[in-house]
Amino acid sequence: MKKKVVVFGSFVVDLTGRTPRLPIPGETVMGSSFAMGPGGKGSNQAVAAHRAGADITLVTKVGRDVFGTVATDFYKKEGMDTSYVFEDEKKETGCALISVDENTAQNEIVVISGACGNITSEDVERSRSLIESAGILLLQLEINFDALCKVVEIAHGAGVTIVLNPAPAAQLPDDVLRRIDIVTPNETEAQVLTGVKIENQADAERAAKVFMDKGVKEVVITLGSLGAFAMNQEKSELVKRLSVEAIDTTGAGDAFNGGFVMALAEGKDLFTALRYGNVTGALSVTKLGTAPSMPLREDIDAMYEKAYG
Ligand code: RIB
Repeated sequence: MKKKVVVFGSFVVDLTGRTPRLPIPGETVMGSSFAMGPGGKGSNQAVAAHRAGADITLVTKVGRDVFGTVATDFYKKEGMDTSYVFEDEKKETGCALISVDENTAQNEIVVISGACGNITSEDVERSRSLIESAGILLLQLEINFDALCKVVEIAHGAGVTIVLNPAPAAQLPDDVLRRIDIVTPNETEAQVLTGVKIENQADAERAAKVFMDKGVKEVVITLGSLGAFAMNQEKSELVKRLSVEAIDTTGAGDAFNGGFVMALAEGKDLFTALRYGNVTGALSVTKLGTAPSMPLREDIDAMYEKAYG
């Protein structure tokens, strides 16, 4: 039986400009196109898990403005539950200013969290029974830290498996980390949290050990062109990156996390789930945008079969 997944995280509207190259500080460059669409790491990961076939509920917060309706309209179209999309009476819906280099597919992002940076203790209490009923809770670092800590405390107390994607990179107290079951940073985020500079598999192994010494049970580190690395008490493994024609890498980490938790929720082990994450991430970069670029389960299964079957 599938475990229920709860994602507690950000929704923001992505305002994305494509450009022949990213500007350096102080420089203006001419862009080639603009798009507005649903984004935010929490929401993107929830959409990825939903399209991958997981039973998910997203808890997030928007403002009473036109950007807020971008969230609810999109979730309704996707067939996602909107009962835990809270509304802030004063704060505006968050947004992200994104530039994508159309030659390298790389991006630069500034996130203004808005309403989802103002999750109140009442919002958390209204979500308590949902969190406690989850099999897996997936978190990121785009909501306010006090709310994150409370959510972690509730989930940990209820024995829910907590997966933390510590993005964007930030320091976290050991007291929070020791309650996390699985952490899924990229190499930069892992460096910020462990102090280990990661350039190869041996570095990733060292960083994973630091996480495990702090009480995290299982570690996944995405390593860009090197692939993705996973470690638990029994073994560690580096799985190579899948080669695809990338046109927009924005949200690839979110796709990875969505595919990864979908597989965990279906009872797959850490290393199999890592491969599902890899496939979901690889497929997402072949399309423009973040949430809209998340792949469907049939495409994930087809690529999984080809790559690892
Ligand atoms: O991970 C990509 C996401 O980061 C974007 O959708 C943007 O909203 C930022 O939160």
